[in-house]
This record gives sequence, structure tokens and C-alpha cells, in this order.
Amino acid sequence: MKHLFVNTSRRLSKIDKNIYGHFSEHLGRGIYGGIYVGKDSPIPNVRGIRSDVVQALRNIRVPILRWPGGCFADYYNWRDGIGPASERRRIVNTSWGGTVEDNSFGTHEFLDLCEQLGCSPYIAGNVGSGTVRELSEWVEYMNSGGESPMAGLRRKNGREEPWKVSYVGIGNESWGCGGHMSAGYYADLYKQYATYLRPYGDTRLYKLACGPDGADYAWTDAVVRQAGKYMDGLSLHYYTMPGYYPTDPYKGEKKSSATEFDEANYYRTLVRALYMDELITGHKFVMDQYDPEKRIGLSVDEWGAWHAAEPGTNPAFLYQQNTMRDAIVAAVSLNIFNRHSDRVRMANLAQMVNVIQSVILTEGEKMILTPTYHVFELYKGHQEAALLESYVQQDFVGTEEAQVPAIHASASEGTDGKVRITLANLSAGEAQSIRCTLSGRDFSTAAVRYLAGSMNDHNSFDEPDKVGIRTMPGIAIENGGFSVEAPACSVLEIVLS
Ligand code: AHR
Repeated sequence: MKHLFVNTSRRLSKIDKNIYGHFSEHLGRGIYGGIYVGKDSPIPNVRGIRSDVVQALRNIRVPILRWPGGCFADYYNWRDGIGPASERRRIVNTSWGGTVEDNSFGTHEFLDLCEQLGCSPYIAGNVGSGTVRELSEWVEYMNSGGESPMAGLRRKNGREEPWKVSYVGIGNESWGCGGHMSAGYYADLYKQYATYLRPYGDTRLYKLACGPDGADYAWTDAVVRQAGKYMDGLSLHYYTMPGYYPTDPYKGEKKSSATEFDEANYYRTLVRALYMDELITGHKFVMDQYDPEKRIGLSVDEWGAWHAAEPGTNPAFLYQQNTMRDAIVAAVSLNIFNRHSDRVRMANLAQMVNVIQSVILTEGEKMILTPTYHVFELYKGHQEAALLESYVQQDFVGTEEAQVPAIHASASEGTDGKVRITLANLSAGEAQSIRCTLSGRDFSTAAVRYLAGSMNDHNSFDEPDKVGIRTMPGIAIENGGFSVEAPACSVLEIVLS
């Protein structure tokens, strides 16, 4: 028996809705085919944007979307993607597979997508190969409401009112594909760019600096020390791949099949996913030295489980299937972000459709929802909620080399006044009996929705609903608590009333 304690009278930080954010890059079928099919497509669309995908994403309340990359962002010139589609510059996407990028999906289309989704846009600006003026004018193009050269250009291209875009990232992975810079050099560049990103009207900019690659605490230290005062957010990128970091004992195995894996690989993957907790704790510690008030948000703006591309697909397109293992990765990651919401204000899953750990996969006119999608559906009630104190008393499961906690959880009090617990049973083969003790308020019932399956289970175009959300009969709450059985390899949302 595992024990979960939830203290409903101890409210901690607010869980920013942007923790449930997404990321979509000009990569493989992430944008073209997955989101944008063009106005003349037989696939139902609104101004070229797939209606089925928009409807599914609205259901999980996507709060924010980062675009156009990724590595692609530091190669992108926004001027290529405005004006009549037939006159747009056709370039080669040298970041991802050398495909022809016709720029038919540009600023107007992206911001239309965000309006259709009802989410905030988050622009990733080009520092690696662009200029300060380019990025400054992009912001002017999107945000200037008065008379200005870029506002005039925007109006000429058919958009009268500014979009009022707040979130602007200054460079992507500037330590890697974004220019291979040193932290000190980047910090100076960051300040230069940030200076010329002007606010227009009442649109307050939220400027994000490029943060570390995983455990590079020295990068965080240098960038926050030198430029912290000019930033609102600092990014962190970390992907779950068994064997990714040099300190990892599982060297050698980086990416493996998304669907064909054994228990050893399953638990190794979860060890790597749980490492996110240590990483955030470490970067918080560094940031606290310079920003004890926690003004600067940590934004995990690329995270997810990165497996080998599906056999028979272009490896540069990073198209992978998505199993219950990925659902558990998502569940523990989101619990970790919730639990660190005093500093983590945003997180963006990589990537939304058809790339890496997607919530949606498409094939022509067909669309399927992945197990990861269903986790976002189960967790959406945490958006803007107050994190509650909670604690799990338990033991570990796994293999000798990869031990993980059996249960992983977080709890919050929602804007609707309801208390929600989300928890994952990490055991691949064993159900867990959990006794939950509640303090602070009286409740009468627990409503449970859940996702369960064997670790390799996934949805496919032939079997689209193999993994889906199910409901348990209501559980009575007596003597200040209740008991619940979490099936093997499962994710639960428990709502108390
Ligand atoms: O998400 C795929 C790539 O991973 C992104 O383009 C880059 O930022 C990261 O290395």
C-alpha cells in the first residue's frame, strides 16, 4: 500500500497555464500536413489550417505555442513569410532534411492559428544568422498599432490591427545550433537584442533568454548574472533519451524504437524523465543567487521523449509513434513542472503534431490522438490552479539498474474551487493500491478518470482508440480519505468534491 497525503489548506505557488504549452517547428510534417494544408485542400480547413487538429487542440486548452523553431528559428527570416503566398521566397530548410520551404505558413498564418486555438503566440527570434534590426522590425510588424513603417507593411498585407504578441525568445540553443556561442558572448548579444525590442501601445513584452542545455549550470550562472535584469524568462531544453548525458551510466544507447522496447528500456527512459526534477532544482538554485524574488521565469520550452524515427520515414523528419511509456513521461514531467511552479512559468512539449513526442499524429486526412494527448486532457484542470502541498510515501519499482518511484503525483486547487490530484503508476506490470489522506477540507466523493495500458500500447491509424480515457465508479471519501487502485502503467486524474 502506498500513501498519498494532500494538505488542501496549504496553497503554494500558482501553476501558470503556460506550463501546458506546446512547440511547433518547420520540421518534417510538423507544420505542413500536420497543421497547415493550404486553403485549397480537400481536408476541412479554415484559411488553410486543419479544423480537426484545431478542434482537438482547443479541447486540451493549449495556452501558448512556440514557433517557428527550434534550430529553424535561427535560420528564419520572417520577411520570407509575408505577402502574397505565390510571391514568397522558396528556401531550403537546411536545418531539417534540406526540403523546400515555400514559406506559405508565415507570420499571418501562425498568428491566425493562435487565434483559432485561443492561445498566446510565442515567437522564437533569430539571433544566430539574423540581425537586431530584423527582430526589432518583426516585433514592430506584429505589435505596432499606429503609424510606422512595419505597421504600414502589415496593413498592406491585409491585417489592420496589431496582434499584440508578448512572448519573444531571443535565440534558440545559442550554445548549439543557434551559433555555438559562449555564455558570455551570448549574454552581451542578448542585451543588445533585448534593448531594441520595443513595447508598442499597451503590449508588454515578455523577453526570454536562451538558457542551458540540460545540466549546464555554468551557462545559467553566466547569462543570469550578466543579463538577468533584462529578461523575463530563461529557457531550459532537456529531452528524455536513455544515455543522452555523459554522466549517464547507460552510455551508448541514445535513441531507440518508439514502440518496440523492453522493461529495461522502459525504466531507463523513466529515470531520464525524472532527471528533469534534479535539473530544475539545480537551475533554480543558480537563479536564486541573482533573482531571489523569482521574477525571472524558468521556461522549459523544449521537452519530451525523443525516440528513433518510425521505420520507413525520413529520419530528418523526427516522426515517431507514442506509447503509454510516453504518457508516463508526460505525466511525471507535468507533475514536476507543477511542483516547481514557483519558478517554472512555462513549458512547451516538443513537438505538437507529427514530430518527436506529439499529442497528435496525422496521415493525409486522418488524425489520431496519442496517449500523451490524453495526459494533457487529464491534467488541464491544473492550469492557473494553486499548487497544494502533497507527499507520497512509497517504495521503488524497476530493474536493478533503473529504479523509479512507484507513484508520482501533484495536487492543486483549481480556479473552479475543485481539488485535483494527478498521479502516475510507473510500474509496468503491477497495479498499486493507494490510500489517500486529505487534510484541510471535507470532501464526499472522488471522481477518477484514467489512462492505462501495457507500456507499448499506442494508437494507430488502424486502431485509433486503443488507448483512451476511461472513468472509474465514484469513490466515497470517509474518515478524511479514500483508497484507489491505480492499474499498472497508468495515469489518473482524481477530482474531489
Ligand atoms: O525539437 C527538435 C530540435 O531539438 C530543435 O530544433 C532544437 O532546438 C533542439 O535541439
